[in-house]
Amino acid sequence: MTCANRPTILTGDRTTGPLHLGHYIGSLRARVQLQHEARQFLLLADTQALTDNVGRHRKVTENVIEVALDYLAVGIDPEKSTILIQSQVPELAELSQYLLNLVTVARLERNPTIKEEIRLRGFERDIPAGFLTYPVSQAADITAFRATHVPVGDDQLPMIEQTNELVRRFNAAVGQPVLVECEAVLSHVPRLPGIDGRAKMSKSLGNAITLGASADEIASAVNAMYTDPNHLRVNDPGQVEGNVVFAFLDAFEPDTQRVDELKAHYRRGGLGDSVVKRMLNERLQSLIEPIRARRHELAADRGAVVDILRRGTMRAREVAAQTLLDVKGALGLSYF
Ligand code: TRP
Repeated sequence: MTCANRPTILTGDRTTGPLHLGHYIGSLRARVQLQHEARQFLLLADTQALTDNVGRHRKVTENVIEVALDYLAVGIDPEKSTILIQSQVPELAELSQYLLNLVTVARLERNPTIKEEIRLRGFERDIPAGFLTYPVSQAADITAFRATHVPVGDDQLPMIEQTNELVRRFNAAVGQPVLVECEAVLSHVPRLPGIDGRAKMSKSLGNAITLGASADEIASAVNAMYTDPNHLRVNDPGQVEGNVVFAFLDAFEPDTQRVDELKAHYRRGGLGDSVVKRMLNERLQSLIEPIRARRHELAADRGAVVDILRRGTMRAREVAAQTLLDVKGALGLSYF
């Protein structure tokens, strides 16, 4: 990638809890690299988090700082990346308002991500309008910064599709290419399972290891990890597929040859869970220890973190305001 046409990346995280190893593998690690190659905006999606956390707004705002600490602790450099708080960029709400006219309720109801989330939350017919329309606000997040690339998990692909639909509609309606389409960047790493063996690691499912986990928390999470329930004696042949310890070793152990040998030994029999768990524990301890230390250090100076967020948000507002000028100009909303 050359500097002349550096891509603009936008990422977003709902601030409903601190980040965990699933986020680290799925996106954070890549973002630390990408900040050297692209202009990167990291959006703390507190407004979006409120769409299904009515009455739990304190949790949402407290977690803005937690997620920011996670970003900084893993190596996001605020000089290279712009970290911004969604609710503090009113231009995003303003742009959403215009985009809302370009999508039907039926289309929103067909969005597979929304459909699945409605099911999970048991909303049935009582869907908050703000929740149903959050794909539009997400499209505003992306287009306000003229993002060209949006790294997402595959569950977010319908959001990108809907964003690009809105971009095409908007540009067609005003007869000029004001907004830019974006490309989803899918991560190539497999999704990290929860420690209980469920497909997805998630704080709310209680099967996550957070980036600020203490040494004891890491050790007991590894101990509790789901392995092969039929691997009762050390000498029994064991199953590697669906075995969380091996999924984690695949994700975190750089010595892949060593992992392959361990898998073969485990399959043959003669390799106890405790041995593999000990190895994984060491690996995770050495990964998280410096992140936790940096997190503690940063958390001790909350004012400095707030300052980083203030500066990032201000920088982001300038960019979004420029897009809004163009958008409103194209709509004829420039009276004075
Ligand atoms: N929907 C994303 C999530 O569930 C968060 C998000 C908000 C986002 N705005 C975004 C992601 C813009 C990518 C681009 O965490």
